[in-house]
Amino acid sequence: MDAGAAAARAAQLRAQIAHHDRLYYELDAPEIPDAEYDRLFRELQALEQDHPGLRTPDSPTQRVGGKPLDSFAPVRHVVPMLSIRTETDTEATGALTFDARVRRELALAEDAPPVEYAAELKFDGLAINLRYERGVLVQAATRGDGETGEDVTQNVRTIHEVPLTLVPQPPSGQPSLFDAPGVPEVLEVRGEVYMRRDRFEAFNLRAEAAGEKTLVNPRNAAAGSIRQLDPAMAARRPLSFFAYGLGEVHGWELPATHAGVLDALAAFGLPVCEHRAICAGADALAAFHARIAQTRPTRPFDIDGVVYKVNSLALQQKLGFVTREPRWAMAHKYPAQEALTTVQDIEVQVGRTGKLTPVARLASVFVGGVNVTNATLHNEYEVRRKDVHVGDTVVVRRAGDVIPEVVSVLADRRPPDAREFSMPSHCPVCGSDVVREEGEADHRCTGGLYCSAQRKQALLHFAGRRAMDVEGLGDKLVEQLVDGGLIRSLPDLYRLGVLKLSELERMADKSAENLVAALEKSKQTTLGRFLFALGIRHVGEATAKDLARHLGSMDRIMGASVAELAQVPDVGPVVAESIHRFFAQPHNREVVEQLRACGIVWEEGEMRVASGPLVGKTVVITGTLPTLSRDEAKDMLEAAGARVAGSVSKKTDFVVAGTDAGSKLIKAQELGITILDESQMLSMLSPRES
Ligand code: IVH
Repeated sequence: MDAGAAAARAAQLRAQIAHHDRLYYELDAPEIPDAEYDRLFRELQALEQDHPGLRTPDSPTQRVGGKPLDSFAPVRHVVPMLSIRTETDTEATGALTFDARVRRELALAEDAPPVEYAAELKFDGLAINLRYERGVLVQAATRGDGETGEDVTQNVRTIHEVPLTLVPQPPSGQPSLFDAPGVPEVLEVRGEVYMRRDRFEAFNLRAEAAGEKTLVNPRNAAAGSIRQLDPAMAARRPLSFFAYGLGEVHGWELPATHAGVLDALAAFGLPVCEHRAICAGADALAAFHARIAQTRPTRPFDIDGVVYKVNSLALQQKLGFVTREPRWAMAHKYPAQEALTTVQDIEVQVGRTGKLTPVARLASVFVGGVNVTNATLHNEYEVRRKDVHVGDTVVVRRAGDVIPEVVSVLADRRPPDAREFSMPSHCPVCGSDVVREEGEADHRCTGGLYCSAQRKQALLHFAGRRAMDVEGLGDKLVEQLVDGGLIRSLPDLYRLGVLKLSELERMADKSAENLVAALEKSKQTTLGRFLFALGIRHVGEATAKDLARHLGSMDRIMGASVAELAQVPDVGPVVAESIHRFFAQPHNREVVEQLRACGIVWEEGEMRVASGPLVGKTVVITGTLPTLSRDEAKDMLEAAGARVAGSVSKKTDFVVAGTDAGSKLIKAQELGITILDESQMLSMLSPRES
């Protein structure tokens, strides 16, 4: 890039960064994800590196953040509040680069022993400086631009976790008459105000019920609450605090290490996060990064990475600072769970039960570790609420195992030709009427099995591994079978012969034979699987098994009244009603009869009540377990007598959580349900003799 082009680009980047700084720091209303901001910032840094003449004193790279608002009194920080150098990667290289740089700056020989680091979490909230004079909290200030922040003392005082007075420490050594009562003359504590996820969700539930404005995410909630002008409002927001460092200090003999400082702060009664470690060298840092990544989704609060700090305060001093960042610290972030992209189209998908789901087709974007090209918009109400148009630039989020979703729209980037979305009045697949029931958010196609989309989904569900388990019957084949008119109803599946099948395009004789054999094999099944395979609304795998176990035969189930069905444990009135309605339809009974006529068999009779350590317990599995697949875990739990359910409720006894667990875990935490990891689950299955 030539000098002119570089200068132009730098000016453009500065304007953008200034704009986003203001939104983020002053208005608490960021409109782009952190990762996008970081990208702009790094691009500017790189430009200034290549063209040092562009590095002007007013460049955003030369200062920390936005200017304080007029509404709060300014507070000058005696010791500036710096920020930390940030690396984002999934590999261990972040830790390696940092350690290599520290060793180089300290001029350590290659065979010198590893440097000792303090590793901790990077909390995602708002940085605050607490000033204690003779043990009394006298002032709390935001970071502001690092030099001058805002006086938010009243609001911070509302945080119960922040002590208003420090706990005096027993005097070390010989007490003298002139000793202060065990607290420093001046102690500035730096840390993060944040909001726990469960408190955030609970706050929003209440706000929603009261018809009040909800909070966008825990970080904005924390920042917005602290910068509330009315402290009574702030007091209603359930905030928390973690201490992670020091500002100005007088009359206190500093510990020798950062870990020692945190221990001392904890002893003064300040909240210090227990998830921290002393790490010798880069490998130990990388291991900490990886270990915390595993547990990230199950933390009660958001973190966006980990922070490494040289543990010795003497070495910290020796290393010093570069512009706005200390050389002795680094933030090692996790890959963003949010990214920006554009909506190329909004399509409507028809599900197994006829539900119409608007799906945004996106320009491919890397987020949460994968390339995302579709994101769900849930229903028409959500499209309206978020105001998504075709052509919009949107924030997409992918966290854990949940389906990617559109979070928000950047309204000021909407192109003039953006197109509004409306739900079709007729099914886009079969043309049947679309209805929305009173009080429901979802639109449904009324076509039933006449609708080929519903038929395809019903077939896929029927053949699924946990249902009839027809090996080799996947999306492509189902598509061909239904579109080619070979299958109109479930029983047609068993009427396919090798001959008919091999007429299909791209179907080799061998594959046709395999499919016919797989169909043959699937005929030997269980009542629970068969019931589940029918795809009755609200009848998941666990409910199907319960029905089979307690009612014992297909005829009994088909003939049961709503009251009889509701007798089955865990079957409530809605589910009972749905089962009853299903079997009241002559064509559904017909399907069952025809399937039986095709030779599908199972053993009838009430199943013997399971035995094992988990009889009577309901368990939910969520996230990715370290060694077991979900099905393996499920089978093991069921073998131990547990009922494995798909969603968390008050009736859930345990939740087994792996990495990337999402909303189920949060719900379990809210309900106070016991949460187990894989190894705890395994030890529960085979309790060791004591
Ligand atoms: S230390 C001189 N430790 O990250 C180092 N900061 O850019 C000062 N943060 O907004 C920061 N967790 O509020 C430090 N364990 C932690 C942190 C942490 C979160 C925030 C901090 C600031 C940003 C630093």
